[in-house]
Amino acid sequence: MDELIEILNQWATRRVMVLTDTNVAGLYPQYFERLSSVFECQTMVVPAGEESKNTEQLIRIWNRMLDFEMDRSDTLILFGGGTVCDLGGFAAATFKRGIHTVSCPTTLLAMIDAAHGGKTGINFGHIKNCIGTVRQPDYMMPANLEFLKTLPAAELKSGFGEMIKYALIASPELFNQLCSIRVLTAETILPEWIERCVAYKRKVVALDPEDRNERHVLNFGHTFGHALESYYWSQGQPVTHGEAVAIGMVYESRLSMQHAGLSQVQFNRINKLICRFYDVPEWSEDLIKSLRPYLLQDKKNSSGELNFTLLCDIGNAMINNFIQIF
Ligand SMILES: NC(=O)c1ccc[n+]([C@@H]2O[C@H](COP(=O)([O-])OP(=O)(O)OC[C@H]3O[C@@H](n4cnc5c(N)ncnc54)[C@H](O)[C@@H]3O)[C@@H](O)[C@H]2O)c1
Repeated sequence: MDELIEILNQWATRRVMVLTDTNVAGLYPQYFERLSSVFECQTMVVPAGEESKNTEQLIRIWNRMLDFEMDRSDTLILFGGGTVCDLGGFAAATFKRGIHTVSCPTTLLAMIDAAHGGKTGINFGHIKNCIGTVRQPDYMMPANLEFLKTLPAAELKSGFGEMIKYALIASPELFNQLCSIRVLTAETILPEWIERCVAYKRKVVALDPEDRNERHVLNFGHTFGHALESYYWSQGQPVTHGEAVAIGMVYESRLSMQHAGLSQVQFNRINKLICRFYDVPEWSEDLIKSLRPYLLQDKKNSSGELNFTLLCDIGNAMINNFIQIF
């Protein structure tokens, strides 16, 4: 907390708003209490979960920042998972053309992915992350693994899906280590795994902060993943982000065998690891047809063609594969 206070002082921050959700607020009510002896502080709580990534919550946050008379030297702390990071990051990026943000991720998914890289946004018109910006957080608090101890099992599994992704696109060694896990608990997650994922994401984001090219590598599993997430959402059967990505990785590994030279042996290893933790529906023409409207909205598409990140091997991904699947 000392380092954070020093940084807020460097920014000449006077007002700090901590944005969090109903679950995290209840579990860690005192976490930023020390700040109130130095700054004017307020906490704002949004309902927990993906449903909050909408215009209604966005307007609530803008109104609170306005009422609190925050200016561009002030700071919004994003204290939660990817929902709070995406929603709050977007509110902060657009309020008075951008106020400072500090990310303090509390889910595994946010620690290794959502809190990094500056993508912010909300869902709109049934499309995931339809409206948003790319703006890097001004400061990231180090991952605190204690938070994982209160995380529900389904949410830990969701973050684990993104961790498998990092292993598949960048690290055969990490993939081998993840294959040795039989039961997933907070204690199974090693700090060095988190550091490895974060280091890789930082490297890729530095190459392509605006997500125009190299950064597409992080999208492995996400072309199908986002479509599945939107589709299940529309059916009233929501799945977590990481679970949808895990299923997407099986489907995109399948495409990788057909189009990028991934071997059957490696496909089987990927399939086995993912099916150990997630229910993966059989690939079927009917399911692909249902996903079509969502796949066509993917942000990587160009001239109406679907753009996939595929695997040549475990740890070796290839971006910009334009493939017709319909
Ligand atoms: N911006 C990016 O680069 C990026 C990357 C990946 C995912 N995302 C987005 O992130 C979102 C998913 O993030 P998420 O999985 O962190 O979901 P989330 O923020 O909705 O959190 C999941 C659940 O866990 C609860 N929770 C959070 N921390 C907790 C803790 N320590 N203990 C107990 N409960 C806790 C939350 O209240 C919520 O109910 C999606 O909207 C996805 O689109 C963004």
